[in-house]
Amino acid sequence: MSIHIEENLFSLETKNTLYQMMKDPYGQLLHLWYGKKTDQNMDYLINSNEINYTGVLYESQHDRSYSNDILPFELPVSGHGDFRISALSIELPEGSVDLDLRIKEVIPKDHKEPLNGLPYSHDGKNEKAEAMDIVLEDHQAAIEVILHYSVFYETDVIARSIEVINHNEKAIRIRRIFPISLDFQEQKFDLIHFYGRHVMERQFEREPISHGIKNISSSRAMSSHQHNPALILASPNADELSGPCYGNLLMYSGSFAGLVEKDQIDQIRLLLGMNPDHFSWTLESNERFQSPEGLMSYSEDGFSTLSHNFHHVIEDHVMRGRFAKEAKPVLLNSWEAAYFTFDGLSILNLARETKELGADLLVLDDGWFGYRNNDYTSLGDWQVNEEKLQMPLEMLVRQVHQMGLKFGLWIEPEMISEDSDLYRKHPEWAMVIPSRKPLVARSQLVLDMANPEVVNYLYDLFSKIIRDTHLDYIKWDFNRSPDPLYSSVLPANRQSEVPHRFVLGTYNLLERLTHEFPDVLFEGCAGGGGRFDAGMLYYTPQIWCSDDTDAHERTKIQYGTSFFYPIRSVGSHVSAIPNHQTGRKISLNDRKIAASPGTFGYELNPAELEWSEKRDIEKQIIEYKRRQPLIFDGNYYRLSNPFEDHAAAWMFVDKNQDKALVQGMFYRFISNYPGRKVVLAGLDPDKKYQVTYASFPISTHGRFEEGNESAAEFTKAIFSGQALMTGGIRVQTSMNDDAGFELELESLN
Ligand code: DGJ
Repeated sequence: MSIHIEENLFSLETKNTLYQMMKDPYGQLLHLWYGKKTDQNMDYLINSNEINYTGVLYESQHDRSYSNDILPFELPVSGHGDFRISALSIELPEGSVDLDLRIKEVIPKDHKEPLNGLPYSHDGKNEKAEAMDIVLEDHQAAIEVILHYSVFYETDVIARSIEVINHNEKAIRIRRIFPISLDFQEQKFDLIHFYGRHVMERQFEREPISHGIKNISSSRAMSSHQHNPALILASPNADELSGPCYGNLLMYSGSFAGLVEKDQIDQIRLLLGMNPDHFSWTLESNERFQSPEGLMSYSEDGFSTLSHNFHHVIEDHVMRGRFAKEAKPVLLNSWEAAYFTFDGLSILNLARETKELGADLLVLDDGWFGYRNNDYTSLGDWQVNEEKLQMPLEMLVRQVHQMGLKFGLWIEPEMISEDSDLYRKHPEWAMVIPSRKPLVARSQLVLDMANPEVVNYLYDLFSKIIRDTHLDYIKWDFNRSPDPLYSSVLPANRQSEVPHRFVLGTYNLLERLTHEFPDVLFEGCAGGGGRFDAGMLYYTPQIWCSDDTDAHERTKIQYGTSFFYPIRSVGSHVSAIPNHQTGRKISLNDRKIAASPGTFGYELNPAELEWSEKRDIEKQIIEYKRRQPLIFDGNYYRLSNPFEDHAAAWMFVDKNQDKALVQGMFYRFISNYPGRKVVLAGLDPDKKYQVTYASFPISTHGRFEEGNESAAEFTKAIFSGQALMTGGIRVQTSMNDDAGFELELESLN
């Protein structure tokens, strides 16, 4: 039992954490504690000193220490004396935003209810969610607010969402709603967040929290390249393997905001939810509004454990269907191999090469439909361009299947080109404000996913394509931030709902298609990794991590991505050199190392490679397939921070701590230096490990790898787990920058 409801005390317990709330004498819901398990009621920590210039509830006016402005709240609301940032703000029929919520009831649930129309964490194969609702009400305003909690005991994760029910006979308007809100008394924290841009997503940033408000947000109706709905609060001394830290992840793919405030008495409040600048929602009498869900986890042992908790909850309780657990195909994608220039025969040649290399799946990217020979045209016209392919798509797919290869197709459902038959027929389906010139990006407009007619049309269209063509895979792209967000089917006073309704429309389409085609692997994408979030992972169990496949920069992007998202969800490919984004030339072997922590594939034209390179790729694919179970099912450890160090290093350890794969890349050659030390993690200190494979550069003698003498010597070496995790291992560096290395270890016990 992880949910404990005593008279006025409500505790959620996971294996290592406690989350505690209480009903105070005035019926308000206070947040008492989140963190390491304790063995008592934590209400003794509530402030009992008077703090000047803070308002006091009318009924408690003789107790001047009791102030909504300083109390830790489980759901801080706007108005009513709390001047800090609020997690819920509702405009009442008379126009005020003064909410006065008191506890109505606390209800343990015997199972978790689905969240209608939204992604949510659910029962897993080995662990069920335990659930509890806390019902709050503003009696006078006739508004009920339900806090839905779910607890994943083994995974150390707690989920929360908020539902608002309007019992008032008049309409109300929700202005802010943040499913995650955490109040901390007097604490020093760093904030870790992941900023970025196209081809440079999820860059790690860590900064001390100072007084005032920090806002990490997206107003792009997508989780975005620029910020990710994932925040960590970490004790200043927390690192990968030690120290307290709190992870917060929003399961949502639209505009979001993460706000952190340090107040007048050094308390910290964290909110993560819908972006209030990009959202408001009118709730008519007797209507309900359900917020997205937030996931929270606490680790006493640093970021590695925190990441494992999030990896596990996403793998077991967020992602669905066979691809959440099964092996994934190694693929070759046509984009950088051919861009828009191909025909059916060249694609069949690409398929032949793909098969010869030993990959499993060929993906035909952009350019197969309408008159799409550049990115100015044809989005929306999803009829195959037979003139270009010189054969029907079905015939092409059949021939690829006959080669023993799977076939996948690129689509971008939510977009429409101005130059398309669909736009000529249905201009009102694009989000364009009547009488204004639309804003274009990549020469495209965005479809109004808030219009059910559009969603139904897209469902009929794409389900037919998938069915008729017998597709095995879909790459679902999204190449611009929707703006303006305007829907021709909503009245003026409801246009502020469009950002959220847009996301709900996309979720509806994803739900119907993924439900109907459980054997099709859907990969998310948004100009690379612009929509890499837990909401999308509910539908698409892998997401193209970035258009930047340069091994140097990719290792940094993947570093940031790995804090919350499981390695099996990260779309990662080897591409040609010079790299199409950066012009860098990194060796094929080192590009393979960089692409290994993920789903693996190729983004190049094998016909342009040397014979020996093709043979190397064949070996890489065999090797990756052998390693994939360890990469997907093992625990992942970051061994260096590439934003502070001149190296990226990471490793995987299987659950029994018998096998490990260590990989990394030294970004900069340092002359006359005796190699670099890498300290390993996650091994059993009492076991002995033998190096079974080693590949790293040696400055004067070329590469150190299988087949050469010193490598053979080294691969016999035996180390204790304790030594590897204390002294580490010294890895030679070569006389070039961006030099990769890898080691495989196996326990002898
Ligand atoms: C952006 C994606 O990230 C690329 O991989 C490719 O699919 C292009 N779009 C195609 O337009």
